[in-house]
Order: sequence, then C-alpha cells, then structure tokens
Amino acid sequence: MVVIDATVGAGGHSEGIASRLGEEGVLIGLDVDTQILAHARRRLKDLPPRIELFESSYRHLDSVLHGLGFERCDRVLMDLGVSSLQLDRAERGLSFRLDGPLDMRMDPKSETTAYDLLSRSSEEELVRIFRDYGEERYARRIAGEVVRARRQGGLPRTTTAFADFVARIVPGGGGRRRIHPATRVFQALRIAVNRELEALREGLEKAVQVLRPGGRLAVISFHSLEDRIVKNFIRDRMTRLHRKPLTADEAEKSANPRSRSAKLRVAVQEGMASDPGMAAQEDIQ
Ligand SMILES: C[S@@+](CC[C@H](N)C(=O)[O-])C[C@H]1O[C@@H](n2cnc3c(N)ncnc32)[C@H](O)[C@@H]1O
Repeated sequence: MVVIDATVGAGGHSEGIASRLGEEGVLIGLDVDTQILAHARRRLKDLPPRIELFESSYRHLDSVLHGLGFERCDRVLMDLGVSSLQLDRAERGLSFRLDGPLDMRMDPKSETTAYDLLSRSSEEELVRIFRDYGEERYARRIAGEVVRARRQGGLPRTTTAFADFVARIVPGGGGRRRIHPATRVFQALRIAVNRELEALREGLEKAVQVLRPGGRLAVISFHSLEDRIVKNFIRDRMTRLHRKPLTADEAEKSANPRSRSAKLRVAVQEGMASDPGMAAQEDIQ
C-alpha cells in the first residue's frame, strides 16, 4: 500500500500510519516547512515501511509520486492549517500571543510575509482579505486604519503590536470577548500569505488524479472556509464515506484543545478497486 501524508508536520499521523503499514508499505510525506520536516525525519527513522520525506507543497504531490516510480497511490491524508510547533515559534509570527515579526510564512522560502502584504496591498485588497479569509465584520474599518498607519509611517511590525492595533480598532476590542479581537485578522493574513485556499484546491485536484479506484482521501480542516472547499470537492468528484464530518470526542477535545474545531472528511475514489489486495488492507483507514 502506498500512502501519501501530504502534510507530514512533526510526523504524528505519519508515525501512526507507518506503524500500521508494515514492511511492505510505502509512506510518502510532504511538507513545505524544512524545520518541521527535520522533526518528522527523526521521529520516523526507525519505523518499518519505506519512508520518503520531501520538502514540497501538496500542490506537487503528483510529481513527487511519479518521481518515485509510482503511477497511483492508495491513500492521501491532508491535515490542514498550522502545526503547534509552528505556532509555538515566536519568530514565525503565526501567533499573536507570542511577540515576533509579522511573518506568517509556513514555507520560509516563499517571498511575501504578512508585513509585506499589509504594506503593499491596496485598501480594497485588504478589505477583501480580512472579509473573505477572516469573515471579519470590521474588515473595512481595519483596512482603512492599516492604510492610514502606513501613510504616517506607523504600521506595526510585530505580532503583538499588530494584535493591539486591531484590538484598538474593533468595537469592544479592549474588553472581554470570547475570542481575541485579532483572531480573524490573523487567520485571514495567514491564509493570504500562504495562499492556502488555492493550494488546497490544487492539492485536492492532484489527490483525485493519483488515487487509484477505491483509494481514499482523508482531509482534516480547521475552519469553515477550508471545510466548504473540501465538502464541495468531495460532493462533486468522489464518494463520501460518512454523511457528516467526523469530529473529536470530549476526551480528545480536553486532551488537545485545537481538535475542537477539527473536521475530518473521508472519501473514496470512484471506480472499482483494481487490486484485490486492497480489501485485505481496509483496516488501514
Ligand atoms: C496541522 S499540521 C500537520 C501536523 C501533522 N499531521 C502531525 O501529525 O504532526 C499542517 C502542516 O501542513 C504544512 N503545510 C501547509 N501548507 C502546505 C502545503 N501547501 N503543502 C504541504 N504541507 C503544507 C505545514 O507546514 C504544517 O506542518
């Protein structure tokens, strides 16, 4: 069985998959973040299957697979969003709780940082980013203040300074809201910096191109924009395995608070399974 973990991260899921695959299996892991791949490499090095890790976007999962001499694969897993390791590194600028540069790139080789976007985008572009990617009610007001701060040479350069800036603009931002007032704007900027929704659409397309008939796609998403794309893609192109997405139970939610917003959708590639051996492997889900 050939499995692609398209977002290998620190290797948590890959470790579980590898230990079930056994000697005959092949696990291909991709991630855009070099630093995080180093963790995965250490974690997976002694596990039985053939493991191939690549610094690559899942946009290119077809070329990676073909480069290894495989035409098709049996499983593709995509666990979207940010890894806790990335969130905990202040210098990556992904968390407004830690003081760091306004960077937010998951792929450190890509060119545009969040600060670049804030400095160069037109006011209308900023409104669109905050509204479409953050579903932020005060998108127009925040974009206007960013442009004004920019003209006056006072655009914040760090995560915590920018979070305070947003909190001062959003009505009630200084008070006790359920979520931090900068949460939506941070999500929006991260999605824009990493072009996450375009990458997701392309990654899903590539997955369906390489999955063999009967093969499975599993996607874990963390917000409604991603989930909508995944749900519609599966509806149009694959056969869903469950009517509703799977969510974490109470025990998992309390052990891992980030799992609260996670939704797992699993789908089957249409057509008959061509390999009878696959049926025997169905326990590897
Ligand atoms: C939620 S984490 C994955 C955690 C992983 N499943 C684990 O068990 O440790 C998401 C990962 O996807 C990576 N990522 C983001 N965009 C990507 C892309 N376009 N292609 C490949 N990996 C990407 C991030 O760098 C991050 O490491």
